[in-house]
This record gives sequence, C-alpha cells and structure tokens, in this order.
Amino acid sequence: MTFQVRNNISLQNYTTFGVAATAQNFIEITSTEQLIEVLTFAEQENIHSIFILGGGSNVLFLKDFDGLVIKNSIKGIEKVKEDENEVILSVGAGENWHQFVLFCLEKNYGGIENLSLIPGTVGAAPMQNIGAYGVEIKNVVTNVKVLNRKTKKVEWISNAECKFGYRSSIFKNEAKDKYIILEVEFKLTKQNHTLNTSYGAIKDALETQIATIQNISKAVISIRDSKLPNPKEIGNGGSFFKNPEIATSQFETLKKEFPTMVGYPVSDTTTKVAAGWLIEACGWKGKVVGNTGAHKNQALVLVNYGNAKGEEIWNLAKEIQKSVYNTFGIKIEPEINIIG
Ligand code: EPU
Repeated sequence: MTFQVRNNISLQNYTTFGVAATAQNFIEITSTEQLIEVLTFAEQENIHSIFILGGGSNVLFLKDFDGLVIKNSIKGIEKVKEDENEVILSVGAGENWHQFVLFCLEKNYGGIENLSLIPGTVGAAPMQNIGAYGVEIKNVVTNVKVLNRKTKKVEWISNAECKFGYRSSIFKNEAKDKYIILEVEFKLTKQNHTLNTSYGAIKDALETQIATIQNISKAVISIRDSKLPNPKEIGNGGSFFKNPEIATSQFETLKKEFPTMVGYPVSDTTTKVAAGWLIEACGWKGKVVGNTGAHKNQALVLVNYGNAKGEEIWNLAKEIQKSVYNTFGIKIEPEINIIG
C-alpha cells in the first residue's frame, strides 16, 4: 500500500467553513496511480460512501462523514504547448487555485486574473465553473483530465462536454460522482491579453493605473478583501446561494414594489437577481444567530463565528431561504455542496 489510511480525522481544518465534523476514514493521494489503488482498496473494504475533497471551500458537512474522504493533492504545472501568443498548461487538481493565478501573473499569462483570491483548488474549479468579476473558468479551460470511477480509466472531457453553465457543469449534474478530476488544462494568452474590466469597481480602480493583468488582479484582491470575509479569520464558503434567475416579467412587477432591487437580464425573457440584495432586504445582513450569521459586508456569505456546527449554518440558510420566498416569491438555491 502506497497510501496511509487515517481514522476519525477532524475535517475542521480541511474545509473553509471550519465546522467540526470527522471523517471515518481519510486518505490523501498525490497521483493517479495512488488514487486507483485507493479506489480498489475501498471496493475491497466495502466502503461505498466516498467524498473527494479539494480545498474544502464549497462544502458544508452537516454531520460526521461515515465513509472515506479522499483528499486530492495531485500537484504539478506542466506546459503542454505554446506559441508566441498562447500557452496551454496542464495543472494538477490539488494545486491551490490562487497560487496558480499568482504563477500565471508572474509569467504574464492572461485569462484568470479576475479570478484572483478565490479559495479552493484547481480541480474543484471546473466542478462549479468558478466565476467572478465578469470571468468564468469556462472561458479558459480546454480539457479536463478525469478518472472514471467505475472503469478506473483516465478520460479527457472537452470544454464543450463539460456543459459549463452558471456555477454548474456536467460534474455537478449528470456526471455527478462519475469522475474524479485529475488535471485541468488551460489556454492562456502571452500577449495582447483580453482584459475584462466590466465590473464597475475594477473599472474604477484602473482609472488611476495602467490596465494590465497584474493590476486587474490587484484590484480584484482589494475588492474581495473589502467585501468578503477571509476564511482563515471567519469560517465561510463564499456565496452560500446562487443568484436566482426569474422571469423578467416577474422582476418588473417586483421592481415596482421594490425599486432598488438589483438584477440584470441574462436572456430575452429572464433576469438574474442579486441574492445578496434579497437577503439584505429581508433584514439578515450582519445579523448574528448563535454561532452563525450573514456577513456584515456581503449578506450572501454565511459565516461560522467560531463553534458553529454544520447543522446550525444549514438551519440559518433554510430560514433565509424561507424569508426570501415569503417576501419576494423567489426560491434561492445553495451554491454550497451540502453533505448530510
Ligand atoms: N448586494 C446587496 N447586499 C448584499 C450583497 C450584495 O445589496 O449584502 C448587491 C450589491 O450591491 C450589488 C449586487 O448585490 O449590486 C451584486 O453584489 P456583488 O457584486 O457583491 O456580487 P454577487 O452577485 O453577490 C457574485 C458571485 C461571487 C463573485 C461576485 C463578483 C454568485 C453566487 N456569487 O456575487 O462569487 O465574487 O459576483 O463577480 O454568483 C462565490 O461564488 O462564492 C462568490 C463569492
């Protein structure tokens, strides 16, 4: 056996919510070969409940996990191809996302600067098509290298096959639990970078600076620092809910009653509404409920003030969902992966 099985391991430091929950078995893997060995071991031991953990920044454990947690620590950044304009990099799923962004900025590779400071790992990024400040990972991913859990064979999933959508992909939907992400391949620019400054606060920050990918990253970092709590200081998983899409006709009706409601069209007939606004309008922003609460600068972020259990955060989330529905008739759905 090239791996170590640990028992009753606390997951508190392995998830950014920092809630107390344990894993019955815990194995960290650093290569595809090791992962295949672990899956075979789990079969032999009749362990059917397996959870693949990356940076733990988008998961909330409601109770102790009665199964095997596999921490994916496959590392490495490899250049697959390059010409004078572009480079293709293949990156291990276990690489820290922000460290990878910094690596690219250092080399002047453009495309992911707007995604600076997003917690989590590279392998988790395609799962929910991470996005921020006008950019989504789907814009730069070419292929995803995965292990098919059933056949234990390596497969490549193309960008189109990933069926990326808003905070969604095949890995969260029809292929849920089918694959384990091993590497992600990115196509990035080496010059003539396409800069995305559509987000107001980035545009404002760049008025006094030269528009470079490095300065965009700096602006993003300062915006995030001002709005979002640092999970190292206050446990959280970023936005708890997705921004809901509703019929534009419903939005227009609501707007008459709530003129400051924030939303923007996503198609001819639908509008995406800012869930943070809805939650704030229901009075939750900055409210502390036991060990949890909705953050004071961004109501969409639910936090753990210290000793919250997963259940407590989830109960708050359900209360918030209910009040948003009762006030506006809009259902908000979690972005966070709830494991219960
Ligand atoms: N707003 C409020 N009150 C709040 C929070 C927000 O009124 O408490 C309003 C803001 O004033 C603004 C609008 O809602 O007009 C949108 O707010 P913001 O720009 O902060 O973005 P968001 O829609 O709340 C999304 C992503 C974030 C991403 C930002 C920036 C989702 C679920 N969240 O948040 O992603 O960083 O846009 O692009 O789509 C994450 O997924 O974990 C995450 C942090």
